Amino acid sequence: MNSRSNASSLLGQLTLEEKASLCLGSDFWHTAPVERLGIPAIMVSDGPHGLRKQPDEADHVGISGSVPATCFPTACALASSWDPRLVRRVGEALGREARAQEVAVVLGPGINIKRSPLCGRNFEYFSEDPALSGVLGAAMIDGVQSQGVGASLKHYAANNQETDRLRVSADVDERTLRELYLAGFERAVTQARPWTVMCSYNRVNGVHASQHAWLLSTILRDEWGFDGLVVSDWGAVHDRVAALAAGLDLEMPPNLGVSDAAIRTAVRTGRLEEGVLDAAVARVLQLVERATASTEPSPVLDADAHHALARAAATQCAVLLKNQDRLLPLRPAAGDTIAVIGEFARTPRYQGAGSSQVNPTRVDVALGELRSAVPDQVEVAFAAGYGIDTTDHDQELAAEAVALAGRAEVVVAFLGLPAADESEGFDRSHMDLPANQTALLARLADANPNLAVVLANGSAVRLADWERHAKAVLECWLSGQAAGGAAADLLLGAVNPSGRLAETLPLRLEDNPSYLNFPGEAGHVRYGEGIFVGYRGYDALDRQVSYPFGHGLSYTSFAYADLATTVAGRHQDGDLVVNVSCRVTNTGDRHGAEVVQLYVGDPEASVARPVRELKAFAKVDLDPDETAVVDFALTARDLSWWSTSLNDWVLEGGEFQLAVGASSRDLRLTTTLDIAAPALPASLDGMATLQEWLADPTGSALLHKAVGTDEDGRPKGILGNEELLPVIGNFPISSLAAFPGLGLSHPVVDALIDQVSTREQRATSEQPASRPFES
Ligand code: BGC
Repeated sequence: MNSRSNASSLLGQLTLEEKASLCLGSDFWHTAPVERLGIPAIMVSDGPHGLRKQPDEADHVGISGSVPATCFPTACALASSWDPRLVRRVGEALGREARAQEVAVVLGPGINIKRSPLCGRNFEYFSEDPALSGVLGAAMIDGVQSQGVGASLKHYAANNQETDRLRVSADVDERTLRELYLAGFERAVTQARPWTVMCSYNRVNGVHASQHAWLLSTILRDEWGFDGLVVSDWGAVHDRVAALAAGLDLEMPPNLGVSDAAIRTAVRTGRLEEGVLDAAVARVLQLVERATASTEPSPVLDADAHHALARAAATQCAVLLKNQDRLLPLRPAAGDTIAVIGEFARTPRYQGAGSSQVNPTRVDVALGELRSAVPDQVEVAFAAGYGIDTTDHDQELAAEAVALAGRAEVVVAFLGLPAADESEGFDRSHMDLPANQTALLARLADANPNLAVVLANGSAVRLADWERHAKAVLECWLSGQAAGGAAADLLLGAVNPSGRLAETLPLRLEDNPSYLNFPGEAGHVRYGEGIFVGYRGYDALDRQVSYPFGHGLSYTSFAYADLATTVAGRHQDGDLVVNVSCRVTNTGDRHGAEVVQLYVGDPEASVARPVRELKAFAKVDLDPDETAVVDFALTARDLSWWSTSLNDWVLEGGEFQLAVGASSRDLRLTTTLDIAAPALPASLDGMATLQEWLADPTGSALLHKAVGTDEDGRPKGILGNEELLPVIGNFPISSLAAFPGLGLSHPVVDALIDQVSTREQRATSEQPASRPFES
């Protein structure tokens, strides 16, 4: 498409056949061209942490090869950096690689919430928290799109498991959707404006995401102002015409000869308005136009520079979970032996399996990296200790490793999940490390207590049954092709760990809030824990955890001081801002980075709310003795919850608790704040209870007037009966009309309802016509 052409002028020249063809791809990875009008096909490719461009015949699941590309840390690792600048840089590099390969759209990032530790794709997702997921998702999109390449934000929405993923209905109430599962998408869409959004496979409250008009049009376009293209997940479309009508523009891969025929027939028979088709085609043309806008020559992939970035990024992602006796960093002296144990030190696991699987340009191996980084006369000796693709305890391997541990100064055990344990396509059934690894660990610790564990896993593993054997645990996640080099940098202290947990590590799987409902049955998964996902649930139940959300140690230490808040503007004027600041000082003896986390709680809310929720964070780099002032600005939305009855975000005036800290359970400074906000309009009708009428200032005044007072000025009837009031206060007022002696006869109640009905009518007329939640 030449640069002068534009979507609207082309649209008028297209035949119905051509328009229908543009709403599906031409093959597995390309949009459809219209050669006579110079509309080219553009290519899309996975994926979130590295390009997976399949050259010719595509198999889709990564079994056949893809062109070499840098494998950056996967999302679970990147999220642990809590560093949007870093994620943006990785996004830029992904965008450059895409341009070098003439790929127009990168199919990522995936920002679905980690509802359960068992989800097979948790390695591809950022966090259990929507603020963190949204900020990092937006950063990734910014980075990719800064290179003139589109991003595809996925998988929209409520795709939180792999079990039955093409059919299961995620049954989620609207408040939970809004506050948890949509909030990250909302932030990423409104802030970073991705070129495309990918709908998910699953159903949401009974309707396939690909056909979900409320999700694809009402929320995404009308509320969030999304102006890009909605693409299906690969194979997510079941009824092409219904999907088009709901707002799905591009079907991938194309159901050629079926979907295009269905679209043509639907337009011809009047089932589908041609205007709907035109709107989708215009968005496809806009995407092609965006993708072909650049006149710059494609960059050449600088594999070395990108590998260096992958290594730098991986060092920022590791989370130092524990570090007893300051075992790390290792400080080997001449003549020392470091026992490196575990097959993963030699055969690294650094990415997940499925559609995001990258063919790396090279792979760092931790063992070799350690060997080349230690000072002279330090021996780095290796024993495999266990086999990766088995849980059997190989006595010979174990004995060799234990003997090595016994003669070394320090032991570093590389443990983790085998690739077969976690992948796109299926969920895990437990969160344990393989038994042969944990059994070995106990024996290693007996032989040498100076034991550090380095973990490689994409989803959370249980630590409670083995971590006592290790003085230090460094969670490296699946950190990409340079994971081995990064591990060496961190173990030897060339880089100070600064990662923080983007998800809670529970003591037991059974403690996870979704446990009783995951992954559902008979085609439905009930999101029964509601908004209490991840730390929101553990905190509400006051459950002990192995390591809380936001946790991560450093080789240095940080002190917090001077928490200050100021309130500017007013909620009713729409300009409320709560400015929060504190000072953070590096009190240790080496450079390090602290992730300052701001949590907000609303203990006086009229609805159940989490004890605290992450609302902002900042990563600060500090030299020893250096202090940084960290500033945050909260808006009304940050203090609000979603009211289904009012169909709006609600800020309830009153006391809020603010805390800054180093994790969700290491709150260093706290304060309370009074925020003024107008009272919520109560819905007063015959089914409103007596208590609800009394709680509303207008309702209460009307009620008191209607019931009247005795000669001493005391309320009459039920309002003067302090014993009976708590007993029948939760009756709807219309039911009480039948009760004698309360002063609430039918005429009195009818008159009350009449008096408030004007206000009620106003509120009702603001409700949207159809929402998918009430059936
Ligand atoms: C995955 C998507 C991916 C697509 C194309 C699907 O199976 O769910 O994340 O982008 O395939 O490979």
